Amino acid sequence: MNLLIQRKAKQLKVGVLASGRGSNLQALIGAVKTGTPAVKLVGVASDKAEAEALRRAEKAGLPARAFPPAFFGSRREQERALEFWFEELEADLLVLAGYMRILSEDFIRGVGCPIINIHPALLPAFPGLHPQRRALEAGVRYSGCTVHFVDAGMDTGPIILQQTVPVYEADTEESLSERILREEHLLLPEAVRLIAAGKVRQEGRRVRIERDA
Ligand code: GAR
Repeated sequence: MNLLIQRKAKQLKVGVLASGRGSNLQALIGAVKTGTPAVKLVGVASDKAEAEALRRAEKAGLPARAFPPAFFGSRREQERALEFWFEELEADLLVLAGYMRILSEDFIRGVGCPIINIHPALLPAFPGLHPQRRALEAGVRYSGCTVHFVDAGMDTGPIILQQTVPVYEADTEESLSERILREEHLLLPEAVRLIAAGKVRQEGRRVRIERDA
């Protein structure tokens, strides 16, 4: 059984990648401020210079930097720049909070720390784009959100935490997305808290979580 994070210091240094609105980042910022002293957010990177997530990071006094792919010669170069930045910040964990690009196997191996992602569906159902719309179209009665470790596949890594929400007859893509998002804002900080507390272990594809005493 592997202890996922070997804690070197008192605080787990967490880097965030986000492409857009940044409401999950905001939930993390709030949770760290109010109740997760074992976590330190060290920086927020985006592939989009105009991402609201970067503005939110700046407002919270966090280092924030854009890495627009068009600015780099290749995908590998963009990812190398991200790697260097998070290395400089000494991140122990990377969190994808609405980061809408697939990370290469080279990046996942090269960055040297675990990466987690939040996805607005109950994986392995509805990986990829528009999961809320596809859940509605499929007629499921429950959907939800998943926090999982990132591997080279599309939303395929080992599952850490999930939360269900009901799907109602009258739901639209917007109403279902909002219901799921409210749960995302709790689930992602909880996953980070558990990792920081050293309570998350990975056994092959299964993730074991030690209960709080
Ligand atoms: C969230 O719903 C997140 O789960 C989703 O993008 C949204 C970002 O919102 N991520 C994915 O779909 C990744 N596959 P936010 O920018 O307000 O946090």
